[in-house]
Amino acid sequence: MYIVGEEEVEALAQVVRSGALFRYGVGGECDRFEARYAEWLGTKHVALTSSGTFALTASLIALGIGPGDEVLVPAHTYMATATSVLAAGAIPVIVDVDESITIDPLAVEAAIGPRTKAVVPVHMWGAACDMDAIMEIAKRRGLKVIEDTCQGVGGGYKGRKLGTIGDIGAFSFNFYKNMTAGEGGAICTADDAIAERARCAIDPCHFYWTGRDQDSKPFAHNGGRASELVGAMLNVQLDRLPGMIAAMQAERRQILDGTKHLGNLGLKVAKMNSPDDDCAAHAMFQLPTAEAAQTFASVFPSVISGKTGRHTYTEWDQVLMGEGAGHPEMNPYNMAANKDCRRAYSKDMCARSLDILNRTVMVPTHPKHGPAEIEAIIHNIDVAARVALGDMDRKDAKLREADPLDARKFDMPKD
Ligand SMILES: Cc1ncc(COP(=O)(O)O)c(C=O)c1O
Repeated sequence: MYIVGEEEVEALAQVVRSGALFRYGVGGECDRFEARYAEWLGTKHVALTSSGTFALTASLIALGIGPGDEVLVPAHTYMATATSVLAAGAIPVIVDVDESITIDPLAVEAAIGPRTKAVVPVHMWGAACDMDAIMEIAKRRGLKVIEDTCQGVGGGYKGRKLGTIGDIGAFSFNFYKNMTAGEGGAICTADDAIAERARCAIDPCHFYWTGRDQDSKPFAHNGGRASELVGAMLNVQLDRLPGMIAAMQAERRQILDGTKHLGNLGLKVAKMNSPDDDCAAHAMFQLPTAEAAQTFASVFPSVISGKTGRHTYTEWDQVLMGEGAGHPEMNPYNMAANKDCRRAYSKDMCARSLDILNRTVMVPTHPKHGPAEIEAIIHNIDVAARVALGDMDRKDAKLREADPLDARKFDMPKD
């Protein structure tokens, strides 16, 4: 989610009035955001892009991933995680998630083959991946790590900011994310050479504006540059971010505390890899069966992770169909260099993930929830869990007014 107020309107108006909408030469907002965000993240480089998808593609290209390489991606993520691998010419290999609904380190280890070059842990729904385990495997087995932090903007892992732990991190600032400019994205890295290659992918002509380090070899790419409007808006959004994350963390703590008695009935809190640091965008629970999860969601409208319609590998049509590009010769699935990569997918290949995802319900938090709404959410979870777990008759289920999804409407009140 995001919050937008008058400050954003004013920041955008200033850029429009100044006429300096291009980041190079005339602007300054993108540069300012990149420097501030890098400092806030605690890393060296941030480079803005036009989208999170492009940030992922630029990240893979920056790391030299391409034809002949396999990249491990989780069974549960927005399809851009997998399609960006294809955009780099490599092949995504889909691996299971665990009860945190993020990539399972054991599945990562088991999936590594002779062609595997990288892994993309996705901090899904703001929940942090098990980065200690993933980094240990990556180091031992020689894999690059690209953190897909598109849904984890502002979150952390054991005191470090999400996106800064692997070789490179990719962020999205689209309409649904914790910081937004409508569209937008960024990469972050501590490595000068990786940053330079990413900047070249983002704008092959950026040397013209910023000068070129003669040691770095430019290459052609499509480009996905950000405008000053994006930079200006994100400079305001960054000021809001820490308060939003803290509010969501406090709300989730209250929800988990207020519902812990339901553990005895069989409502499990989903595994959290860094409960004090992640975005806490949802309180996540696992029910014993998919049917129980459906009942829970039918009583108290909430999201079943496996039923969003677009975040599970069974819904990534292009990938399952082997349509990896618009032209057959550019399709990584047809490339000779990829003939030894694993290219077969089936809808039941990650049955364990499907089981977990279809049993997981996500109750969204929101920075604007007040004490009454949080109390109502706790009450509603109690009622829904009792009905789902056979401890209450559905006719006795009385919800309180607090539709958490309603708080995500996009006409947020002005600050
Ligand atoms: C996990 C994940 N990766 C990548 C993306 C792509 O970001 P964008 O929509 O900015 O291209 C998204 C966006 O929804 C996402 O949720």
